[in-house]
Amino acid sequence: MQTVRSLEALREAVSAFRKAGERVALVPTMGALHDGHMALVDAARRAADRVVVSIFVNPTQFAPSEDFSRYPRKELQDSRMLAGAGADLLWLPPVEAMYPAGFATTIAVGGVSDVLDGTSRPTHFAGVATVVLKLFNQVRPDVALFGEKDWQQLAVIRRMAIDLDLAIDVLGVPTQRGDDGLALSSRNAYLLPEERTRAVALPRALGVAERAIARGGDADSALAQARDSLAAAGFEVDYVALADAETLGAPEPGRPLRLLAAARIGGTRLIDNIPVNLNEDG
Ligand code: PAF
Repeated sequence: MQTVRSLEALREAVSAFRKAGERVALVPTMGALHDGHMALVDAARRAADRVVVSIFVNPTQFAPSEDFSRYPRKELQDSRMLAGAGADLLWLPPVEAMYPAGFATTIAVGGVSDVLDGTSRPTHFAGVATVVLKLFNQVRPDVALFGEKDWQQLAVIRRMAIDLDLAIDVLGVPTQRGDDGLALSSRNAYLLPEERTRAVALPRALGVAERAIARGGDADSALAQARDSLAAAGFEVDYVALADAETLGAPEPGRPLRLLAAARIGGTRLIDNIPVNLNEDG
């Protein structure tokens, strides 16, 4: 695996792939890689001939009160994992390549960015959309892969790709989970052992609510019960919501639904989501 740290070197490496007629996939990450990221690399290898992975801890998607400075940075370990997983090119942009002096452009994706996490983290999705569009322009991939664990982020990027005519397939890759069901996340590293044990209440609460709604139960009661069970497990609940899977707006008949939650345990904010399968038998 080749590692590049300048835009010139990146462009040279990607244009060599292109000259050979190869299809290029991009997996954007913030590093601190785990098996969830490796599933993205695996899916990227199936979707394209060459896999480019970027690692950039993007300051503009963190609010001043959030964990930018303590976000885990593990460049050497990440690089070894990516080489083992068969990535072809690691793009490690310097901050000046992403935000040159005088940088003044922000991509705001309306609607889908404004609810759920967008309410709790009002500047977050503009930071994500802006950095992802930059990475798209730098790498010019045919396909880009994102984890479904960050469902709202995926919906924001899909909306941006449609609205801005980006000729890039945006693919979601199913959430990878630990044996007990907790979604893999770089932020799980913050959890104390006792918090890690209690954190399983998050996927469990979503599963219980999903089954109740899928069987035709009252959605508001199912969501309230999920919030109560999270509170009982020691979570401070931000939201548990049933939303349109694409727009993240209010559910509408006949449209795919997603159940999403964000909750804090100790100092760590966790998110998770699952599809609601309305065809389930009672
Ligand atoms: O999901 C992430 O790791 C980040 O939000 C992303 C997409 C790499 C943008 O910084």
